[in-house]
Amino acid sequence: MFKIRKLRCEYLENPIGIGEQKPRFSWVMDSDEKNIFQTSYRIQVSKDNDSFLNPLWDSEVVESDNSVHVEYKGPQLGSRIRYYYRVRISNNKNNESPWSKTNFFETGILDTKEWQAAFISCDATESPEFSSLSPLLRKEFNINEEFVSARVYVTSLGLYELWLNGQRVGEDLLTPGWTNYNKRLQYQTYNVTAILKKGANAVGAMLGNGWYKGHLAGWMEDTKERYGKRTALFLQLHITYSDGSEQVILSDKSWKTIAGPILMSELYLGESYDARLESPGWNNPGFNDTVWVPVYELEVDRGILVAQDGVPVRKIEFISPQKMLKTARGETIIDMGQNMVGWVRFTVRGAKGSHVVLKHAEVLDKDGNFYTENLRFAKQTIEYILKGKGEECFEPHFTYQGFRYVKLEEYPGEPRLEDFTGIVIHSVMKKTGNFECSNDLINQLQRNILWSQKGNFVDIPTDCPQRDERLGWTGDAQIFARTACFNMDTAPFFKKWLRDLKSEQLENGGVPFVIPSINLVMPLIMEDKDICHSSSGWGDAAVICPWTFYLCYGDLRILEDQYDSMKAWVEYIYCQAENGLFWNTGFHFGDWLALDAKEGSFFGATPNDLVATAFYSYSTSILAKTAELLQKNEDAKHYRELHEKIVKTFQREFFTPSGRLAAPTQTAHILVLMFNLVKGKDRKRTIDTLVKYLEENKWHLNTGFLGTPYLCYVLSSNGRTDVAYKLLLQTDYPSWLYQVSKGATTIWEHWDGIKEDGSFWSAEVNSFNHYAYGSIGDWLYRVVAGIDTDETKAGYKHIILKPQPCQKLEWTTAEFESMYGLIKIKWYHENGMMRMDVTVPHNTTASVMLPYAKMDGLMENEETVKNQPLYSKAMEKDAGVEVELGSGTYSFSYPLDIDILPDVPTSITDRSPQES
Ligand code: BGC
Repeated sequence: MFKIRKLRCEYLENPIGIGEQKPRFSWVMDSDEKNIFQTSYRIQVSKDNDSFLNPLWDSEVVESDNSVHVEYKGPQLGSRIRYYYRVRISNNKNNESPWSKTNFFETGILDTKEWQAAFISCDATESPEFSSLSPLLRKEFNINEEFVSARVYVTSLGLYELWLNGQRVGEDLLTPGWTNYNKRLQYQTYNVTAILKKGANAVGAMLGNGWYKGHLAGWMEDTKERYGKRTALFLQLHITYSDGSEQVILSDKSWKTIAGPILMSELYLGESYDARLESPGWNNPGFNDTVWVPVYELEVDRGILVAQDGVPVRKIEFISPQKMLKTARGETIIDMGQNMVGWVRFTVRGAKGSHVVLKHAEVLDKDGNFYTENLRFAKQTIEYILKGKGEECFEPHFTYQGFRYVKLEEYPGEPRLEDFTGIVIHSVMKKTGNFECSNDLINQLQRNILWSQKGNFVDIPTDCPQRDERLGWTGDAQIFARTACFNMDTAPFFKKWLRDLKSEQLENGGVPFVIPSINLVMPLIMEDKDICHSSSGWGDAAVICPWTFYLCYGDLRILEDQYDSMKAWVEYIYCQAENGLFWNTGFHFGDWLALDAKEGSFFGATPNDLVATAFYSYSTSILAKTAELLQKNEDAKHYRELHEKIVKTFQREFFTPSGRLAAPTQTAHILVLMFNLVKGKDRKRTIDTLVKYLEENKWHLNTGFLGTPYLCYVLSSNGRTDVAYKLLLQTDYPSWLYQVSKGATTIWEHWDGIKEDGSFWSAEVNSFNHYAYGSIGDWLYRVVAGIDTDETKAGYKHIILKPQPCQKLEWTTAEFESMYGLIKIKWYHENGMMRMDVTVPHNTTASVMLPYAKMDGLMENEETVKNQPLYSKAMEKDAGVEVELGSGTYSFSYPLDIDILPDVPTSITDRSPQES
């Protein structure tokens, strides 16, 4: 058996409405054999589903082992056309696969000239009094003949929900998503063939304020109407007849509008809905709309319209609440059992005009009462007024909440737990990773990381999902990106966000703090209101993120697309830095929230110029590698040289002549090691000093946003895996497992969001769903389980399987669904034996490190490797045996004295941190 499984176009199965002119195809192959490599592929693209007799493009047989991101090279693609494609491949065992199943992709509107519709609006919403209500818009139309297909291309200023003949179009939420609306407004494409019918039809839409018009960054002076005052709908419905002719329905003056039952809907505030104001049948044909008023048209440049280039937000999971409780204050609370993001669906019965009022919170305070202070301006309140007709079921429309607890502030009758369901929403991303080990607290930590990822990947990567912030903080995204790529397929999600980043970049290359940018002002920490861009470690997202996605998905185009943006960021720093080498100017968040900060400060003790110059060197080194990959040889040479000079400057500035790093903080030492700013014997001294600091701190970290992600990594790659495990396994403050032992179900913003005595960190900045410190997930996958990619064959074309076990964990297992297929590893030690099972996907190779193995002690598992050469190459190395493998599943076992494995150090000294 040799065949193609999982055929994708631009990461997606059968996407419609794409904007790419040169889409790329990827596939995964299936075979029962081991050591399978693709030797050739052939792709055919046709406009005709049934046959490829006369394909539009036939790549013919191409000798290549390339099976991911293979670019379409046929004639230029037309607008609004469905293209079918199929692939067949051959392998190194002389097998040829059958043709794959036929998949398709369909283009969106590729030519701006095709836009004929107008942006239509309801003027009532302009008055401040009605500014948050959601207008309804409708139109009826006739289809005179049978038709073969229908597509709607739709978007809005603000958010929209769309219906045709009473049926909701698509399942997407919060459309059209958040982009840099001034330059890019995504439209969505839906296949509505099955919803329309010959005869009378009706289209209806409802608009919400969303990011466009609603409150953003609630603490700022002008929190509303950041992009505009008027919400508006833009829609083109193309109905195609069998002879190819079309009927087109447009949003235009012929539509009518009225205020709907939503009295207020805002992302942070929640929603108020008066069911008595519903107009049954309004989105169906035949509805009497004589009291509705005409819409008016808005002037908007249609050049900003772009095809949806990310993934939509949808309802992904449904949670039954765990319990209902009464607090000391007498509040009735529903506990979802999980800090989640989305909303509650409820069914209620009661008299007309009675109210349901739900409030949402992440935590209860130390007395068990409902706690909302950390939400700041975000009210997270749902109000529903009953129409009084039997069972009423409600879900909000243009808002979402971050919560575990729901307070029933008003509720008619006795609430029943079964009437409430938690609806979890996030961007559509397939789960691609799994990590588990013998320690339950670590497993809970991994679950918490995943939940924080879900809750904060809501169209853009946000810092938090609950308070009046929920912004695309660049630093947070940069820190977490690698972990995110393990847990879920984030490629299309981030592709879109990076396009926004690029479009928001300042002319001088500066990068706004948050993307999409809203000219953020942070009075709490900054006096200068004009600064809202280009902090080191944050702006570096422009370089680190594309590089991360290249490593994880082998996606060179992401580097091509972002290259100018990456370069502009490095050039920006060059212009700010002293002699272009030492970045000692400007505002920086630094090692944000580190515990070595002065009392009451958010800024860690590591000097800003050190952090900034360190990240500058890192971004420059990535840029040099990127230029090399893209064969921009001059740039590559230039940035390599620049990088060397930055490193020398750094060393001159921050190391004493005898090789001591002058800044006595954990994070300074971590960054220096991570970014290779120290070489030779000074490296050893640096790692020893870091270990000394940790020991003096009783084996606890005190790092913030920039040091933490790399902490365990620098320890384990510099011979101190033992210390890395020690930090990971700590359960008291400050540590990753402290919050787990306090019952966290998502990652906290602060190491001590809830203190040991149950009190909270200041309500100003205290999110319980902040993925930043979840970046330890990367180390769990890459070091504890040991799944990594070879940078020179990125995207796991060559896999490095190099677990670093320790005595305290009996077993670890991890899986990662790469672009080539499933990578698996499991290691465990028992009864003096070390055992390891690995799976290597087809069309890849892997270097497997069998830790502490000796060649002569190595045993093969007879079942799995029977009659197969076990390895093509094996070498005994210092800490084990390294084996080269082709695809397949393999098991190894060998005698191992558990005492050889690193054990976590015990404190020898008993100095308190203050004394050190
Ligand atoms: C956010 C962050 C962000 C930080 C920058 C906070 O308010 O929640 O996570 O990176 O500000 O300082």
